[in-house]
Amino acid sequence: MKAAVYYETGGPDVFRYEDVPDPTCGPGEVLIRVEAVSIEGGDTLNRLGGDLGRVPHVVGYQCAGVVLDVGAGVDDLTPGDRVVTVGLDGSHAELRVTGRAFCWPIPDGLATDEAACVPVPFGTADDCLFEFGRLRSGETALIHAGASGVGIAAIQLAKRAGARVVATASSPARLERLTDLGLDHGIDYTATDFVEAVRALTDGSGADVIVDSVGGSNLQRSLHCLAYRGRCVTFGDAGREVPSTLDISTMRANNQTLVGYFLGAELFLGTRAHAMIAGHLADIAAGRLQVVVDRRFPLDEAGEAHAYIESRQAFGRVLLVP
Ligand SMILES: NC(=O)c1ccc[n+]([C@@H]2O[C@H](COP(=O)([O-])OP(=O)(O)OC[C@H]3O[C@@H](n4cnc5c(N)ncnc54)[C@H](OP(=O)(O)O)[C@@H]3O)[C@@H](O)[C@H]2O)c1
Repeated sequence: MKAAVYYETGGPDVFRYEDVPDPTCGPGEVLIRVEAVSIEGGDTLNRLGGDLGRVPHVVGYQCAGVVLDVGAGVDDLTPGDRVVTVGLDGSHAELRVTGRAFCWPIPDGLATDEAACVPVPFGTADDCLFEFGRLRSGETALIHAGASGVGIAAIQLAKRAGARVVATASSPARLERLTDLGLDHGIDYTATDFVEAVRALTDGSGADVIVDSVGGSNLQRSLHCLAYRGRCVTFGDAGREVPSTLDISTMRANNQTLVGYFLGAELFLGTRAHAMIAGHLADIAAGRLQVVVDRRFPLDEAGEAHAYIESRQAFGRVLLVP
């Protein structure tokens, strides 16, 4: 098969478009022909640095397509079914194998390329807000990077739950587009201190739930606008800062909670998150939630697609099409 691969981590120009061996389908696994790859925020970070495992490396968490083969023990999918899949790597390719527990049938009425954008952002947003953030109707949620894949999902889910939705982004134009999705108050963090803005919006009390995908100094400052009994969920390092020590000394007096989150653990260790994501696919198929696709690139232009995302122009998802 053809795949977008790299031999060393680095900038978007590390990608090569090459022939690599076809993956094979073992017991409990599903082989698909990929029709749409959703480039996740973690894909750009993994390409930038970290362990490669084996080379050539095929990066990528999430893609959708058509089932070609199933392994022993998989009796509820058959060749020809449309599915969306997640895995720790392997999405940037013409073929992908993943375990059945990391596949979801695509409901009728939902396009394959839209389904490709659903499990990771919606599953992460839902868990950060509700399972771990315990967000309730009437509370204030602060969602960082509102125009990101996870941010766009989180804004819709928080609004639907009856929360007051505050989000940050790097320009007024990005915030403007988020109002149609349920945003109540946008903060352009390049022009306004978000800690002061959140305090001003909440009469000084702070946000009840903060979902922080940016990390680093942003996470530190999130703790400075967290309410009494507030819950801050940290799940990413999109800000690309070198990790530094976090000062949690203000948390105890305010009975606050800081939670780490990894969707993979929820999918590996139980079935709850799988069912939750299936519900989101059904809701999107029925028009109750929406995905936002920004642009599509051919798979052999993976480097250009990653560079476009890192230029901070993308609003929602960028897709690769094999
Ligand atoms: N733990 C988990 O299970 C889990 C699951 C999903 C995602 N994540 C992590 O969550 C983060 C976001 O994922 P995503 O898919 O939502 O990302 P995405 O769609 O690619 O968006 C990332 C956003 O981060 C903001 N950002 C802030 N500082 C940035 C910087 N220095 N460089 C680039 N972007 C920057 C940008 O928005 P502005 O320009 O508006 O600031 C951008 O829209 C990633 O770190 C990812 O690894 C973790």
